[in-house]
Amino acid sequence: MLKVINVVGARPNFMKVAPIVEAMRQRATEFAPLVVHTGQHYDAQMSDAFFRDLALPEPDAYLGVGSGSHAEQTAAVMQRFEPIVIAEKPDWVIVVGDVNSTLACALCCAKMGVRVAHVEAGLRSRDRSMPEELNRLVTDQLSDLLLTPSPDAGANLLAENIPGERIRFVGNVMIDSLYTQLERANRSTIREELGVGRGKDYAVLTLHRPANVDDRAPLERILSALEQIGTRLPVIFPAHPRTRRRLEEFGLMERFAAHDSRLRLIEPLGYLDFLRLFSGAKLVLTDSGGIQEETTALSIPCLTLRENTERPITITHGTNRLVGTDTGTITREAFDALDHPRASLPPLWDGQAADRILNALLEKEMMNPKR
Ligand code: UD1
Repeated sequence: MLKVINVVGARPNFMKVAPIVEAMRQRATEFAPLVVHTGQHYDAQMSDAFFRDLALPEPDAYLGVGSGSHAEQTAAVMQRFEPIVIAEKPDWVIVVGDVNSTLACALCCAKMGVRVAHVEAGLRSRDRSMPEELNRLVTDQLSDLLLTPSPDAGANLLAENIPGERIRFVGNVMIDSLYTQLERANRSTIREELGVGRGKDYAVLTLHRPANVDDRAPLERILSALEQIGTRLPVIFPAHPRTRRRLEEFGLMERFAAHDSRLRLIEPLGYLDFLRLFSGAKLVLTDSGGIQEETTALSIPCLTLRENTERPITITHGTNRLVGTDTGTITREAFDALDHPRASLPPLWDGQAADRILNALLEKEMMNPKR
């Protein structure tokens, strides 16, 4: 029986860990899962709502690190995670994605000689000004098992001289959550609450990357595009707390009030409400990583408001278009995506990734029981 600590920290982690923990509970003779929440995200709508919606068990430990600079946050996670690892002596620690908690726990374990598996390994934007890119690079170097969501990710790892026997192509575990929860999400009344029920056309926006929201200029360029897109269909914007704060600081909240129902800013949504909302949209605009994948899985046209993406497969095999933050380009591509939608699905985005992850852990364990 393998004792496995599953680490969650921030919003995009919860939907990746939920199917893994559930699969481990189903295979209780083989796995004893624990969940550790670092507390990187702590607001009810950024954390608790996801535990509820995804039926994640209460964390076995909550580290309560909260917000801070990157160094403060990373250090706080390491300091508080180390005693848990000492006390629990896990066979494996699973980290997912690319947030600061991912890197902190991988580094902590690597130094303690505890084996780490990284889920969503090998993604690269090749933009080292993104904190997530640094987290991805270092986490992959330190991990004993690299579980990749797409073939390009494996190629990236091999190009960085990571030995092939550490890499397993398992598919996209976030899509497991998406398919599992679709039916429950259909019970959400969020579309009706927002006045976009009964087949009404609308777009959904999410925006939180520091490069887009921490400076006024890109934020204003994006807002100008949204105002033009809003002439064709209403845009609903569940705003990350970081973005809301910036909009207030820059005096840009009035742009939403002025456009009222065409450009609607709302509180962040839980998993099921957000799934219900974006799955009915004619268009999604985002700077999130995960939403590029979720829209591809459901064949919803997606514009990514960034200059690069670590998920190129959503462009080559999906609905995604990389459009940057130029007002004219965003508007032109939005209208083109509405008029010419396209769809296809990357390999192994089939809702079965969690079981392949568990099998890869067992296989690795049989090959090399002690580090
Ligand atoms: C983090 C991740 C990012 C991920 C995003 C998803 C890193 C480096 N970044 O960015 O990869 O896409 O989560 O949301 O790990 N805040 C709250 N309540 C919360 C959490 C945060 O108000 O529950 C506010 C705080 O003011 C905080 C700010 O948001 O300072 C930023 O939070 P932080 O976790 O540092 O980064 P995110 O921008 O959320």
